[in-house]
Amino acid sequence: MSDSATLHYQGKDLVFPVITGTENESAMDISLLRKSTGLVTMDYGYQNTGSTRSKITFVDGANGILRYRGYNIEDLAANAMFPETAWLLIYGELPSADQLQKFRQMLTENALIHENLLNFFREMPPSAHPMGILSSIVNALGLFTPRFYDDENKAEAFNFTVANLISKVRTVAAFSYKASIGEPFVYPDAEKSYCANFLNMMFSSKAKPYNVDPLMVQALNTLLIVHADHEQNCSTSTVRMVGSSQASLYASVCAGICALWGPLHGGANQAALETLMQVQQSGMSVKTVMERAKDKNDPFKLSGFGHRVYKSYDPRAKVLKGLVHTFFNKGSLNDPLMEIASELEEAALKDDYFIERKLYPNVDFYSGILYHAMGIPTNMLTVMFAIGRLPGWIAHWKEMHDDPESKINRPRQIYTGHTERPWIKLADRV
Ligand code: CMC
Repeated sequence: MSDSATLHYQGKDLVFPVITGTENESAMDISLLRKSTGLVTMDYGYQNTGSTRSKITFVDGANGILRYRGYNIEDLAANAMFPETAWLLIYGELPSADQLQKFRQMLTENALIHENLLNFFREMPPSAHPMGILSSIVNALGLFTPRFYDDENKAEAFNFTVANLISKVRTVAAFSYKASIGEPFVYPDAEKSYCANFLNMMFSSKAKPYNVDPLMVQALNTLLIVHADHEQNCSTSTVRMVGSSQASLYASVCAGICALWGPLHGGANQAALETLMQVQQSGMSVKTVMERAKDKNDPFKLSGFGHRVYKSYDPRAKVLKGLVHTFFNKGSLNDPLMEIASELEEAALKDDYFIERKLYPNVDFYSGILYHAMGIPTNMLTVMFAIGRLPGWIAHWKEMHDDPESKINRPRQIYTGHTERPWIKLADRV
């Protein structure tokens, strides 16, 4: 394989090195392009742009492969717990028993949020979207924990921030739900595991104690693991972008949550579920849904299908589809939307439009059904994605900060506006 690429420009041959990753992916290194030619590259949506070297997550979109730090997503989903997956992503190796125990302890110790922050939930309109609440409070958490900025021991401060964020984000998510339905908050329980604690804070109330169902805990654990990282996606690139200015981890994660919210990214799980509900309620046929999804004049999109990187079945969707079937077969989850989803998938996989464009179900197609069947409200689905994605954001923020080659992210542009023109006085304007 060639280890350089030649560009012929203005009568000159310019040679650029080709760098190759451990899975043989190659990139032409154009770091010196502007210096040697005055050119910049133009790449809308960064479809051909590599922004960094990374050791965290490998995605092979053609073959449907996803690995965190070398471990297959299928193995992690079947065997790991979410806190140990978070540790793996952030620190690079599976934790030892001692490391995991200490990490769990830190998660327990940092689960509570400052009482002053509770007013924030109470003052928000009940209709406020939980993603807006989550991003605002995550930013505010940084203000309540100045230790990160002051501590001279950076490693210790970072470890504290990791546990603080991963633990508190779950409390914030559950509290935002309780606030939205006007129920008192249920505080974290030090005796419960990460996932059981979340379910308890969501569904327990004075009027009706909640018996944590181990199958629900298992489903939530798997859901969080499959969402935990996905290399340089929109929200992770946002976290890196904001962090590249040396903004704090809290501020960077807050920006990541906002980026995740959009319907083309994490917000697709809410949109996908709403589509299934719309089909159920309106009686729209699967055929009509498919026709509308293909019609370029119709703004309707089949959310939960298609992916920038996966041009085969998303392995996360495969894990979740298996999980949905396991749970439905055991009778612990029941949801008529599952049937509609199966019909839609079957129709899409046979449809020429979807085949030609290699559009397969993505992670958001089945996660929505699973969360819905677990009783998680529709507007909380993207919040669930954020809880899962948090370790990935932190891992990327850390990797960027530890990389001596990283620089503030600052793309160039090709200006296409007016050239210089004279000022026009207000009275002379038409
Ligand atoms: N329904 C109908 N047509 C679609 C869909 C869809 N869900 N997704 C892509 N297409 C068409 C698109 O119109 C285009 O057609 P044409 O070539 O005729 O112009 C072609 O497929 C290529 O799509 P694209 O939008 O140019 O591809 P992209 O890489 O820029 O966008 C995507 C990827 C995920 C934004 C897009 O597939 C999409 O909008 N999907 C629905 C939203 C969704 O499910 N997002 C969640 C992605 S997975 C979670 C995450 O990691 O964010």
